[in-house]
Amino acid sequence: MADRADAHELRLDVALGPRSYAIQVVSGRPAHLGSFTRRALDATWAGKACRSALVITDQNLASLPHAANCEGALEHAGIACRRAVLAPGEATKNLGSASRLFDELVGMKADRHTAVIALGGGVIGDLAGFVAATYARGLPLLMVPTSLLAQVDSSVGGKVGINHPQAKNIIGAFHQPIGVWIDTDTLNTLPPRELRCGLAEVVKYGVILDAAFFDELEAASAAIIARQPEALRAIVARCCRLKAEVVTRDEREETGLRAVLNFGHTVGHAIEAVAGYNGHFQHGEAVAAGMVAECRLAQRLGWIDPALTERLILLLDRFGLPSSISGLDPAQLLEAMSRDKKNQRGKVRFVLPRCLGRVELTDAAGPEDVLHALNATGA
Ligand SMILES: NC(=O)c1ccc[n+]([C@@H]2O[C@H](COP(=O)([O-])OP(=O)(O)OC[C@H]3O[C@@H](n4cnc5c(N)ncnc54)[C@H](O)[C@@H]3O)[C@@H](O)[C@H]2O)c1
Ligand SMILES: [Zn+2]
Repeated sequence: MADRADAHELRLDVALGPRSYAIQVVSGRPAHLGSFTRRALDATWAGKACRSALVITDQNLASLPHAANCEGALEHAGIACRRAVLAPGEATKNLGSASRLFDELVGMKADRHTAVIALGGGVIGDLAGFVAATYARGLPLLMVPTSLLAQVDSSVGGKVGINHPQAKNIIGAFHQPIGVWIDTDTLNTLPPRELRCGLAEVVKYGVILDAAFFDELEAASAAIIARQPEALRAIVARCCRLKAEVVTRDEREETGLRAVLNFGHTVGHAIEAVAGYNGHFQHGEAVAAGMVAECRLAQRLGWIDPALTERLILLLDRFGLPSSISGLDPAQLLEAMSRDKKNQRGKVRFVLPRCLGRVELTDAAGPEDVLHALNATGA
């Protein structure tokens, strides 16, 4: 993986053999998207002959300049665009929306040379990616993530999918994009709570993989909250590189390496389930409190010093993220964790820190350890 930098653009190449692609991180250069896309398309058999694209986005993005900017740049590069606009929110990530998008593609007589452009947050990326993976057995997919979560997490890694009414993300595929175009200026319109939620995943990368990055986040927290372009470019590119390093070593989630990305998520998913997806805890907030609880669990096992947990709480607090499971019943959380997909032979498995920047998947924590950690995170 190579990083090339000038003052305003950061580029990294994700090495996946014939499925290799570039991630470009810029601030305020919407016009460059056209030439980036053309180059990325021309590097593939299907993309070379691409002259049209379906731009898939949601109503929030469509009402902002982002969608028009993106289409303008693509048109300029000789790619005729048709736009499909969906309702914002997780409920859109379903089979009905996919079906509607298949209709759009059929309507525009799309073939394997038609590109899909996913312009939006993780919901749009996962849904558009799923449609791109399955229509005509695979269309070229360009990711243009616009939420911080999508920029640092969901747009990298090739996992695409939709929800079943009873199970999140259960219908899906691995489909690598031809490129990822990230303009951090799009974050200027992102609601503050969404920005904070993305920051929870950013902090996660520091804890699991990169202690120096954690230090840098502490030093740059004010610039990040102020959405300074240099600060945003730096953290987005760093997170993409860290995630790409993990997923290129475990492209199809077969070796267990990707599990490190689940730090904070075992407790986090339980928090979301128990809080009832009712808006009390958004995903990033649940992950923030989950990371604190899991640090306490690592403390309980004697793996880390309490000072690490304290540093984490301070950083989360600076980003306006919760560090407690306030009001939730530990017993109910434990029960929800017993359904976690990482579990083996009835034992709940956690990804816990050994030190800042290094985590391990373990089943060493028993129910009483977990309850102890949750109680300590309840205040
Ligand atoms: N594929 C993966 O590897 C992966 C990884 C993590 C999460 N995900 C998925 O990602 C989804 C969550 O993504 P998300 O948090 O981006 O949610 P989202 O797509 O719902 O976006 C959050 C909100 O922000 C709005 N928004 C996005 N960009 C904006 C901008 N620039 N300006 C103004 N508003 C903007 C959206 O319209 C939406 O209302 C979940 O479905 C999750 O399962 C996938
Ligand atoms: Zn997450």
